[in-house]
Amino acid sequence: MFQVSTLNKKQFNAAASETLLAAALRSDVLLEHSCKTGRCGACKVQVPVGSTIAVMDELGLTLREKLTGWVLTCARTALCDLQLSVEDLGGLRLHPAKTIPCRIQGLERLAPDVVLVRLRLPPQQDFRYHPGQYVDVIGPGGVRRSYSIANAPAPDQLIAFGKFLAEALPSFLITQVSMLGM
Ligand code: FES
Repeated sequence: MFQVSTLNKKQFNAAASETLLAAALRSDVLLEHSCKTGRCGACKVQVPVGSTIAVMDELGLTLREKLTGWVLTCARTALCDLQLSVEDLGGLRLHPAKTIPCRIQGLERLAPDVVLVRLRLPPQQDFRYHPGQYVDVIGPGGVRRSYSIANAPAPDQLIAFGKFLAEALPSFLITQVSMLGM
C-alpha cells in the first residue's frame, strides 16, 4: 500500500493494483471524476511528489497536458507514496448509481447535431442527482449514449440533451437510464 495525500491534507492508501480514483473512493475521499474510463478528463491532476503508472489509455488528456505532467486518477496506479495537486470535494456525497426502466416521451432537435430527450420515469421512482451529473441511455443491443441532464429533479420527468444520433435514438421506445457518478 502507498500513501496518497491531497492539497487539503486528506490522505488515503492505494494498493498497486487499484487506480488512484478507486482507492480514494474506497476511502471516502471524493475526488472529481465522471467516466472512470480515461475519456472525459474530469479527474485530471498533477503529481508534484511521487510517481504513477498508466493502466489504460489516457484519452481525456491532450498531448500538451501529458507533456506537462497531467495524469488521470481513474487511469493511474501509484508506484510509491505520492501527493496529488487537487483537493477533495469535501462533504459532498454522490447519490448511488442506479439503472431504471424509462420511456422516451419526446425528442426535440435543438441544433443539427444536438437532441433534447424527455424521459418518463416510473412512478414513485426516487431518482436524485447533483448538478453536473449525467445519464447513460442504454438502448437495444446494449448501445449506450451519454446525455447531460437539463432539468432540476422532478418526480416523473427527466430532460437531457446530447449529440444527435439518428441511427439510435428513434428506436428507443422503452429503454433504461443508468445514473452514473460525476
Ligand atoms: S477521465 Fe473521466 S473520470 Fe477519469
